[in-house]
Amino acid sequence: MDLSTSLRTDMCGQLTAADDGRTVTVCGWVDRRREHGEHLAFIDLRDYTGVVQCVVDEKHDLRSEFVARMTGTVRRRPDDTANTNLATGEIEIDVADIEILAEAEPPPFPLDERTDVDETIRLRHRYVDMRKERMQRNLRLRATVNSAVRRGMEEQGFVEVETPMLIASTPEGARDFVVPSRKEPGSFYALPQSPQLFKQLCMIGGIDRYYQIARCLRDEDLRADRQFEFMQLDAEMTFVSQEDVFAVISHAVANAAEAVTGERPTEFPRITWQEAQERFGSDKPDTRFGMELVELTPIFTGTEARVFQASCVKGIKMDAGVEALSRNQIDALVETCQRWGAKGLAWMKVIDGDDGPALDAGVAKFLSADESSQVIAALDAAPGDMVFLVADERRLVRHVLGLLRLELGRPPVNEGGLNFLWVVDFPLFETIGDGGKPVPAHHPFTMPHEEDWGLLDEGGDALLDVRSQAYDLVLNGWELGSGSIRINRPDIQNRIFELLGIGQEERQAKFGFLLDAFRFGAPPHGGFAFGMDRLVALLAGESNIREVIAFPKTQSGSDPLTNAPTPVDAAHLDELGLRVLPPAT
Ligand code: AMO
Ligand code: AMP
Repeated sequence: MDLSTSLRTDMCGQLTAADDGRTVTVCGWVDRRREHGEHLAFIDLRDYTGVVQCVVDEKHDLRSEFVARMTGTVRRRPDDTANTNLATGEIEIDVADIEILAEAEPPPFPLDERTDVDETIRLRHRYVDMRKERMQRNLRLRATVNSAVRRGMEEQGFVEVETPMLIASTPEGARDFVVPSRKEPGSFYALPQSPQLFKQLCMIGGIDRYYQIARCLRDEDLRADRQFEFMQLDAEMTFVSQEDVFAVISHAVANAAEAVTGERPTEFPRITWQEAQERFGSDKPDTRFGMELVELTPIFTGTEARVFQASCVKGIKMDAGVEALSRNQIDALVETCQRWGAKGLAWMKVIDGDDGPALDAGVAKFLSADESSQVIAALDAAPGDMVFLVADERRLVRHVLGLLRLELGRPPVNEGGLNFLWVVDFPLFETIGDGGKPVPAHHPFTMPHEEDWGLLDEGGDALLDVRSQAYDLVLNGWELGSGSIRINRPDIQNRIFELLGIGQEERQAKFGFLLDAFRFGAPPHGGFAFGMDRLVALLAGESNIREVIAFPKTQSGSDPLTNAPTPVDAAHLDELGLRVLPPAT
């Protein structure tokens, strides 16, 4: 692409031996200066394409991060001074004319990739941090992903519709950010946690296939994969089953991965939520490695070992764990599992016994010979391996061993390629809460499986067996996105509201406009949303989404660059009809 402008003829990083003899003008930042002797200095001038060595008269006061424009002749470097690590390493510019376009204070931190800089300082001076190769690469990669995803949706007939930011509350279940209304003091807008309700309205409105790369806001505790504001590829379509949704979303995600890696992912396997929980102890299994949870309950029915007298026993095996784990590390693992809610963690070493592999150390002494050999067989364990068992109520066993599996075996996010996985048949309800009311796993518009509609009327614990037509897409153990087929039948919707204990008044207050719309011809519809920040981070090989966001908030939710959040003055508060309470002590 021709990137020349009125001020430059070429980009710093694009000059090669083929340009030998040309007179060029380049613009950029001073990356490095070295004195050469003979009254000469070498200046590495940098733009986003790379650096080029410029030979200048030493009298020029060109310091780090000064912005300069240099005109001169490209010439080959003497053979022994060529730098093969650098794209422009064979040439230099013999500079005839220099214009300093901006002076610069010394940068707040070195711009090389080797120095570890405190994140708050990086964010405080994000505009300097952004000049670094990593940020340049990540932000450009992000733009590539945005564009590939857009193309992927558009080539499947999706239409971009923008939805409002100042709305009433959405049903995603996090805390809303609210904006006080000046026109109606005491009333507040909510910022959208997602465009969920609006995209459903678009379906009722006959848009057929909607998409948006939408900004979403949720006031929740921040983590490596969570920010207050984040971007979703949000989509909704009419007259579909979940298969149709899987197809379009897989296509868009494959486009993005292909645009970045050059390889088109073809495998989007499926697993049911139930199987994911049994085998990986998680609803977002990281399938880049094995160490699956193995069912051991039948081995311990009628066991003498008190530790294993429980409704569920499962185990995992760590290959060559005996070599890898010290006693101190094992003790720490036991404590960690207790923090996760387990009563304990049973561990044993697999050794070479007289009649083949045997269990040793840890709780081995509590097991009968028969139990030992069955555990070894079930886990397919060999001498040198370690086995870990947890006995408890089933949910807890899966939860703890799922976390332990990650702790012991999870590779860094950017290793092992891209493992996509659709998790299907999520339960409609998570648990039965206090007072017998079921706790929904998703928003209340999620369609239950047709075969399970009968269970809705049974109530009680049968509700926990109701599967929903809700699904997640998982990538390398991260929840990339979620979606569902929505309820479009008033009888089912009413039943769900009843079960959740959402009365007429609350229904009308929270979702009245959507329920009204449903009375005017609502087609069957369903959709999906995936986190663009998460997809970009994983494609960039970053383990924190802040590295792929131009101006993110810190872990504590502040912005060291603009200092947000800040107080507002009293006059402004008056206008909004607000009083700020003194901080709670
Ligand atoms: P859900 O709430 O599961 O579904 O969100 C979808 C995806 O958005 C991303 N995400 C986030 N990314 C960064 N920071 C956050 N705080 C954050 N919260 C969510 C995740 C997540 O998988 N309206 C439904 C979708 C639907 O049913 O169509 C929804 O928003 O990658
Ligand atoms: P205790 O008899 O409670 O001292 O436990 C003996 C060993 O079994 C310890 O290593 C505990 O961590 C482990 N343990 C205790 N309860 C459980 C359990 N429910 N599941 C797995 N291991 C356990």
